[in-house]
Amino acid sequence: MTTGAVAAARHDHLPTAQLEAFHRDGFVVLPDFFAQDLMRDLVREIDELEAGGRATPIYALPTHGMLTSHPDLMAVMEAILGADFLFHHIHTYRHDTGAPGVNWHNDYEQVPQTNRSHLNVIALIYPQGLSGAVGDLAVVPGTQGIVSDWYQLSCFGTETMPGEVVIDRLPPGSVVVAHTGLLHCRRAKPGAGPRYFTDTSYCQRGILWPSWSEDDWRVMLRHCRDHGYDRGGRYRHLYDESQFFDQNSARARIASLNESGSLYPRIG
Ligand SMILES: [Fe+2]
Repeated sequence: MTTGAVAAARHDHLPTAQLEAFHRDGFVVLPDFFAQDLMRDLVREIDELEAGGRATPIYALPTHGMLTSHPDLMAVMEAILGADFLFHHIHTYRHDTGAPGVNWHNDYEQVPQTNRSHLNVIALIYPQGLSGAVGDLAVVPGTQGIVSDWYQLSCFGTETMPGEVVIDRLPPGSVVVAHTGLLHCRRAKPGAGPRYFTDTSYCQRGILWPSWSEDDWRVMLRHCRDHGYDRGGRYRHLYDESQFFDQNSARARIASLNESGSLYPRIG
C-alpha cells in the first residue's frame, strides 16, 4: 500500500485524522483490528461453510452473526455513521489458489442510483490478512461520490486505474472500512491460497434503504434479533426492518419504468 490512512491498531473509536481521511479518500485501513482467537473462529466457520457447499446463510453462523455487532467495529461505524445506524448484510468467502478477480465496481445500495445523500459503509475484513497472493484489493481514492450502477465501470476489468491504491499486505485481523460508493476491484494474483475474506455492510439512518437481496431479508433481521446479535439490546437499532424496502421488487418495478427515454415523465 502506498497511500491512504492507516490508523493505529486496537481502536475503540476512530481518531479524527482517520475520520477526515475516510471522508476524503472513501476508506481507512485498520491493521490488526480484531483479536486472533476471534479470527481463528471466523476461519473455522468459513471452512465449515465451504465444506458444506455454502448451504447455511452466513448470518446464521454464530461467530459471523455476532461479528455484525462487534463493539469495536460498532464504535468505528458510529463515528462515521452516527447513532442508530443499520446492519445491511454479511458476506464471507475463502478464495483458494487461482481464484479469479472481481472487476471494478461499487457496492452502494440505491434503487435506482441517483445520489449519495446518505452513507453506506462496508467493513472488509481479512481474518488472515493479505499477503500479495490470490488477490489484491485495489481502490481509487475519492471516487465514492461518483453516482453509477454497481458494475458500470466493469468494462475496465481489473486493469490499473489512475490514482489507484493497492492494498496487498495486511496483518491478520485487519479491516478496510470503505464507503460502498468507492470504486474498487479484487485483482487476481498468483500465489498460494487460501485468502479469507468477510464483509459486513452498514447504512446511515434517515432514509429507506434497499433490503438485502440474496436471502429473505426479513427472516435475516429476525434471526439477528432472536439470536442475541443485539447484545442485550445495546445494538437493537441495527436490525430494524422498518428502515428497508424490498430491493428485488423495487428493481423489477424500476426496470419496467426505465425501458426507454427519461425516467422523469414516468414518475409523475
Ligand atoms: Fe465490492
